[in-house]
Amino acid sequence: MSATQPEVSRKLGAAGRLNEWVNARFPLQKLLAEHITEYYASKNLNFWYGFGVLSMFVLVIMIVSGIFLTMSYKPSATEAFASVEYIMRDVEYGWLIRYIHSTGASAFFVVVYLHMFRALLYGSYKKPRELVWILGMLIYLALMAEAFFGYMLPWGQMSYWGAQVIISLFGALPLIGEPLVEWIRGDFFISDITLNRFFALHVIALPLVLVFLVVLHIIALHEVGSSSPDGVEIKENKDARGVPVDGVAFHPYHTYKDVVYITIFLILFSLVVFFAPTAGGFFLETANFDPADPLVTPEAIHPVWYFTPFYAILRAVPDKLGGVILMGAAVMVLFFLPWLDRCKVKSIRYRGWQYKVALGLFAVSFVVLGWLGLMPATGFYLILTQIFTVIYFAFFLFMPIYTSMEKTKPVPERVVYHA
Ligand code: HEM
Repeated sequence: MSATQPEVSRKLGAAGRLNEWVNARFPLQKLLAEHITEYYASKNLNFWYGFGVLSMFVLVIMIVSGIFLTMSYKPSATEAFASVEYIMRDVEYGWLIRYIHSTGASAFFVVVYLHMFRALLYGSYKKPRELVWILGMLIYLALMAEAFFGYMLPWGQMSYWGAQVIISLFGALPLIGEPLVEWIRGDFFISDITLNRFFALHVIALPLVLVFLVVLHIIALHEVGSSSPDGVEIKENKDARGVPVDGVAFHPYHTYKDVVYITIFLILFSLVVFFAPTAGGFFLETANFDPADPLVTPEAIHPVWYFTPFYAILRAVPDKLGGVILMGAAVMVLFFLPWLDRCKVKSIRYRGWQYKVALGLFAVSFVVLGWLGLMPATGFYLILTQIFTVIYFAFFLFMPIYTSMEKTKPVPERVVYHA
């Protein structure tokens, strides 16, 4: 017979007594069991399921490196650029902290995009995980705002002009446009006041929102349980103890795999940080190494790569308001995915060709739009942008139709696992 918790605690001596003392006052053991040691997830989760933990890992990297950056950064229009240069040249390991933070921003979007793509592969947004998906989408919106505000802080040319372009988009809204733009800037032009408020939002307001949303995301997920790459709900098949027969405890079985994913991630991340921190202008744009100058417009203004698919959609329409609406719609439509997809089968492994083709075209359109967002919106590029924008939206708009027509394969009763 296995020992009871008080017996185990007594055997552990002082540490055990401390454990007992804490648990009599705070449900530590209960929380750890519920979310880690007795949280059962399918035994056949593949690497696609590693991007959630990686997103958490990057969030921690960003918060820690951000705290150290804030110790030497000056949120003032006259000092911000110089303070970043000071961090790079004079602060001990300042260059490392800054490159970790700037590379981390791109890494965050890489892992979050792959995390979202997993949901499209395995129908993670479908019942009963609709709320997990919606909370994920709120995280995504907060993340975009966080990245936008952060990019403004070095007060380089791209910080200034990028903010100028994005904030002015709100001016396209009828009636409230201009007053809204002024309200956001806090001034008649982008100034020290704008920089200060963006700093406040970037270092405290949005990180708090992000952490809060991630906690909700995990609580919602643990309520319904993780999906499996087969789309089999492991909770539907439990043994006499009430443990899913196809499930294994998150710790130690999945945590050990996650350590491998984190190690691989850290190797790739370090390669960028130490050998290519600007990633050829993709992660840190060349124009941002010049201080902000309200009198000189950079040659080409475009956002960082993770926003360019939406920036391309914005420019696909010649009319400013039309472009703004379409760009907003491109993000917001993702919220409705759980209700647009009518197929009963969750996993791509057992879905019909219609969804496979549509998902492939959608992925291509997202990547191509990302490239087009870096190109001038004229001539052939503009036509291509319009074609791929149509493909992007067609994926969602026709989804209720083609997903109802899918001829699916039978889903197995138990998860498919080859030891
Ligand atoms: C800071 C950002 C995020 C963090 C830290 C995070 C964390 C996690 C973690 C740890 C899991 C469980 C492991 C896994 O299934 O990968 C998970 C699951 C999930 N996440 Fe996220 N997530 C983030 C952003 C998002 C976004 C942007 C979306 C979608 C818009 C999203 C949608 C989902 C869904 C649908 C699941 C359930 C997966 C399943 O069981 O099939 N997450 N998330």
